[in-house]
Amino acid sequence: MTDGRALALAYLKQQQMLGGDAVILNGARSTEHGAEALPVAPTPVANAPSSVLPPPGLSFDPPSGDLFAADPVQRTHTLAEIAALVHDCTKCKLCEARTNTVPGEGPTNARLVVVGEGPGRTEDETGRPFVGKAGELLTKILSAIELPREQVFICNVVKCRPPENRLPQYDEIAACVPYLFRQIEILKPAVILAMGGTAAQTVLNTKQSLGALRNLVHRFRGIPVIVTYHPAALLRNPNWKRPTWDDVRIARRILDS
Ligand code: URA
Ligand code: SF4
Repeated sequence: MTDGRALALAYLKQQQMLGGDAVILNGARSTEHGAEALPVAPTPVANAPSSVLPPPGLSFDPPSGDLFAADPVQRTHTLAEIAALVHDCTKCKLCEARTNTVPGEGPTNARLVVVGEGPGRTEDETGRPFVGKAGELLTKILSAIELPREQVFICNVVKCRPPENRLPQYDEIAACVPYLFRQIEILKPAVILAMGGTAAQTVLNTKQSLGALRNLVHRFRGIPVIVTYHPAALLRNPNWKRPTWDDVRIARRILDS
């Protein structure tokens, strides 16, 4: 098998994993162009210019905590210290109905940080981020760019579950976001993947729609930010799997560069 063909097949396998098999595999099965004909993939991986990134987007540069700040969040130096503060936090009304706080999890040396919206039911029950249905899909998305979930720091904008999974409100986000920003400050990742409108708008301090924010390389304190759909939205609308795949490949390219 030629290298190009092997690459194209690997690509198809990944697409299939992400649920995009129906359209593409028809091309793969086609034999009318002879045995050497390559499957028709929308983006020919073998020839794709791997260094081309989307244009720059927004830049958000909130001041970081200074050394002498009195705020306990700014005085933390480890992820565990942040998790301990979150555990006891009552800064917003989401503390009232929570079972567990969900500070986020992953290694301190993670090069990718995934930011979601807020814990759902399973997350609230377990204290772990993205462990329900959306979490399963996130794990698949990450493995499709060869990132074992264990190597990624996964967290949310708000650390306590909004009742009935409603959107977190502005005051709740404002109260909780110092934890996220401090987590990013400690982690110093190479890329941030913001999944869904809440994550994207919070990390970039904008009201722009997800559609307008996709396919650009934004910056948070200088760190590249890639915006894509939320896995829960993909479960409702499988048509968004393909574009999500394109987005995470941008993150992969930055990690590889
Ligand atoms: N959705 C999120 O945004 N975060 C989770 O942790 C789980 C589902
Ligand atoms: Fe505190 Fe955030 Fe939980 Fe609100 S959501 S109580 S700010 S940890």
